[in-house]
Amino acid sequence: MRRVYLDHSATTPIDARVLEGMLPYLTETFGNASSVHMFGQEARAAVDKARRQVAALIGARANEIVFTSGGTEANNLAIRGICEAARSHGKHIVTSAIEHPSVRGVIEELETRGWEVTRLPVYDAGIVRVDDLRAAIRSDTVLISVMMANNEIGTIQPIEQIGAFVREERERDHRHLWFHTDAVQAAGRLPVDVQTLGCDLLTLSAHKIYAPKGIGALFIRRGVRVTPQQTGGHQERERRAGTESVANIVAFGVGAELAQGEMNDRNEHVHALRDRFEHEVESKIPNIVFNGYRDQRLPHLSNISFRFIEGEGLLIHLDMNGVAVSTGSACSSGTLEPSPVIRALGRDEELARGSIRFSFGKDNTHDDVDYAVAALGRAVEILRALSPLAQERLTFVKESVPSA
Ligand SMILES: Cc1ncc(COP(=O)(O)O)c(C=O)c1O
Repeated sequence: MRRVYLDHSATTPIDARVLEGMLPYLTETFGNASSVHMFGQEARAAVDKARRQVAALIGARANEIVFTSGGTEANNLAIRGICEAARSHGKHIVTSAIEHPSVRGVIEELETRGWEVTRLPVYDAGIVRVDDLRAAIRSDTVLISVMMANNEIGTIQPIEQIGAFVREERERDHRHLWFHTDAVQAAGRLPVDVQTLGCDLLTLSAHKIYAPKGIGALFIRRGVRVTPQQTGGHQERERRAGTESVANIVAFGVGAELAQGEMNDRNEHVHALRDRFEHEVESKIPNIVFNGYRDQRLPHLSNISFRFIEGEGLLIHLDMNGVAVSTGSACSSGTLEPSPVIRALGRDEELARGSIRFSFGKDNTHDDVDYAVAALGRAVEILRALSPLAQERLTFVKESVPSA
């Protein structure tokens, strides 16, 4: 059976050049980067080089990059680290209604410990408004955490405008205010420059840019103090204890450099695939709704709700035909919870349950798109035919369409 992977927002395969770059650090160059001897120094030099490569991807200085075990840890370090360091200055956080669980979860946990939280709405476009942020800010707000691009619908948030607003606030003497953005989905897909964005902290993850899982980074702007979340080692200039995962770090560096150099070509390619896909789906499958403002999205991602069917059923059907996609639904206590991101767009529960994310990658082909569209068309037809409710409502929809 043919297999088509359309889940590049979940993870990407390791690029052959990334693998080639990291392999020596799993074998002959195996030293601990903290060791004084030659083995250690070789590892240290490799980590330093990777730090420069990752920093270059986002316009940062090398010493502003802290390697972590991934995006989740970097988000935890950023949010907990700022809130703990700034505890005496306030107790209010502003975030968006559509953050990744690794941001949402930390903030919810802080809420149980007395922090107050304002969650900015995203409206049907899936984008926060800076005016809402202006209205939400309080003198005791210490942290703004808004993602750069959403992982389920791909919408791009106004991070530069938020950064400009934060600067204004500081000029008005709101000095204890920090701005974090989760750029896990954006980096390598959109130009990211921490100077232009004006953020203090920015989260990255390697496995979205054709490098391995289990490695990420937090950009911490020079002068910003974050309370470390692990103790027991001096690594990463006291900001993240633990022996560096040298091979993974090297791979992240190579992945970052390739992503930077190839960004335009990759984007052009996935954009064309996504457009072809959406055009075909729109013309072949009735009763669908696109999620997220289509003019301000990541170029490789398409999120669609299919009326009258469960996304999970559709996912399984597609998987049985070799097509890998994902839903935003999560299994909780044995029931399927509809995606909170799709719900935040104001969609009803049926649409939130029927949503599927398709995310294309640099190695997908036009044939992959055509195969996926055909499989999708068949799956939707079969699932709708099996659903008595769908039959009833589809007949109703047909009858209510006025004849020309
Ligand atoms: C927006 C966003 N933030 C954070 C993460 C977590 O990154 P990691 O998988 O490296 O822990 C992801 C992963 O899917 C993500 O999409």
